[in-house]
Amino acid sequence: AVDLKGRDFLGLSDFSTEEIQYLLDLAIDLKKKQKAGEAFQPLKGKTLGMIFEKSSTRTRVSFEVGMYQLGGHALFLSSNDLQLGRGETISDTAQVMSRYLDGIMIRTHAHRKVIDLARGATIPVINGLTDRSHPCQALADYQTILEHKGHLRGLKVAYIGDGNNMVHSLMMGAAKLGIDFAVASPQGYEPNAGIVASTMDVANQNGCKLYVGTDPKEAAANADVIYTDVWASMGFETEQKERELAFKNYQVNEALASYAHKDYLFMHCLPAHRGEEVSEGVIDGSNSIIFDQAENRLHAQKAIMAATM
Ligand code: CP
Ligand code: NVA
Repeated sequence: AVDLKGRDFLGLSDFSTEEIQYLLDLAIDLKKKQKAGEAFQPLKGKTLGMIFEKSSTRTRVSFEVGMYQLGGHALFLSSNDLQLGRGETISDTAQVMSRYLDGIMIRTHAHRKVIDLARGATIPVINGLTDRSHPCQALADYQTILEHKGHLRGLKVAYIGDGNNMVHSLMMGAAKLGIDFAVASPQGYEPNAGIVASTMDVANQNGCKLYVGTDPKEAAANADVIYTDVWASMGFETEQKERELAFKNYQVNEALASYAHKDYLFMHCLPAHRGEEVSEGVIDGSNSIIFDQAENRLHAQKAIMAATM
């Protein structure tokens, strides 16, 4: 049986296929309970600290609400107000917080910081987004695809756009779950080569395909899902103008979507820039499931917290 008590949630690469499937099943179960008004409060008396060094709408609200629904309490900790912002070490912060809290969620720039926090802490640490990955979003996204398609293995997901944190977590999740995955990014904006290589290993072992290239049409061909994300992620805002040029042929619009299966799903982690990475017609059209994804952040993260804390 799967037992995730005490585990950190830093990236999907740390979890087996069976463990990811367990979290997806738990997320779907907790969603049912919540909709039925059935209380499930295994975290009574427990507290989650939430450290934010970047902005957030979904992550902040869904973790805070999720912790409340599980019977616990969540603390919003802005790094500007923590001593961390004045140079207190990650290691001291981790040890102090471990004396008060039962879990820590952190959103920050450098992935290293999250690793160091997890190393110094004696309580589970959850990655709420770094420049390298966004595993909570990817878990919620595979829950959403599963709910819409009824299965995952054998599907094809196409990711069009920036080779960023989002695609790193999505492609690792796909490889673990037996989903074919195709990426199309402009030259110079490819996903991290090391992450591509380790994802390729997992995909090969698991009998599914990973394609990484520059052609959006080839990626979108016969896709069951088309996913995109902003061209300039948090921390890269000053590159907005040059990125608009580099990505101008990478918009997900009706013309590109016509290469996918008719019943394809459009997905975006949000926030979105209509008219840049996606046309209004596609993101607000009938194939779009963006708000189901956003909702499932709540249920997927409740599963992570209930399983690890
Ligand atoms: N998708 C996501 O993580 O959104 P926030 O930045 O609003 O948390
Ligand atoms: N890639 C985006 C995702 C936001 C949820 C960013 O890092 O800004």
